Amino acid sequence: PLKPLVVVGSINADIYVEVDRLPKPGETLAAGSGYTLPGGKGANQAACAAKLGYPTYFVGQVGEDGQAIMLRDELQQCGVRTDHLRSVSGPSGQAIVMLQPGGQNSIIIVGGANTAWPELSPGQRLTSEARSLIRGAGAVLLQREVPEEINLEAAAVAESAGVTVVLDCGGADGPVSEALLQKVSVISPNETELARLTGRPTDTPDEVNGAAGLLKRQQHLSVLVKLGEQGSLLFPAVGEPLRQPAVPAPSVVDTTGAGDTFTAAYAVATLEGRSSKDALAFAALCASLCVRSKGAMPSMPDRATVDKELKATQAVA
Ligand code: RIB
Repeated sequence: PLKPLVVVGSINADIYVEVDRLPKPGETLAAGSGYTLPGGKGANQAACAAKLGYPTYFVGQVGEDGQAIMLRDELQQCGVRTDHLRSVSGPSGQAIVMLQPGGQNSIIIVGGANTAWPELSPGQRLTSEARSLIRGAGAVLLQREVPEEINLEAAAVAESAGVTVVLDCGGADGPVSEALLQKVSVISPNETELARLTGRPTDTPDEVNGAAGLLKRQQHLSVLVKLGEQGSLLFPAVGEPLRQPAVPAPSVVDTTGAGDTFTAAYAVATLEGRSSKDALAFAALCASLCVRSKGAMPSMPDRATVDKELKATQAVA
């Protein structure tokens, strides 16, 4: 049987406001509409993997509020195992998503339960059940919307059991600790995060190549750079770099969660034994499907949709 994917991370109620533009300082703007949808980088990645049919567990925290019920429910509906989704006192995590025409977004997150991990025993915030789940995983997927010490704990447990750790750099703008980098096998930044990680500019394709190559050599890991409309770039720990163009979408409605979809779909394809080249193409198609409708989790494609789209593309080619 397949070893499960374990996603350790955040879960947010995404509070959407649709605006024509962002407000200026001191200005009040009326939104076209407002609604709440499930999100959070960790939960999004877990939902994506489960919707693609891969056995997936989520390790995270919700608060004790109405949002928590909706969030747990949505994850389960996507097929994610929530045995390790803990309830802690206080509010659940939230994200204010200002959705602009063309699908562009600006997001502000409020940590809530994602940042309130109780100490269970000295130096341990993950339960012993979560630890043994990680030890038996095919891979562990991390992002940066939970405290660094949670990621460090999860990565340390994974490393001690020889389990691959994938770190999506989205969610925080501070530096990634050297201790965490040492435990990671695949790191996935966007161009801004790559610049921050390396201290190098990433404004041109040559600069992105230079920075990704540097990061790979310095840390001895695979670097998967997400470049949005420009596609993606993989610098594998061993072997030649691979470039994957983005799959065009007929219309871009909401880019929220596209990066999460890309990372999770790449992880799933790799766990399923696909080559890096095929995994990149699969992830690009999944991300393209995600931007075509509103919401992060709700817009992620299930396996049947991806397969249908793959067939359609092959028929055209
Ligand atoms: O990556 C998209 C996610 O970022 C949103 O769902 C929001 O919750 C923020 O965490």
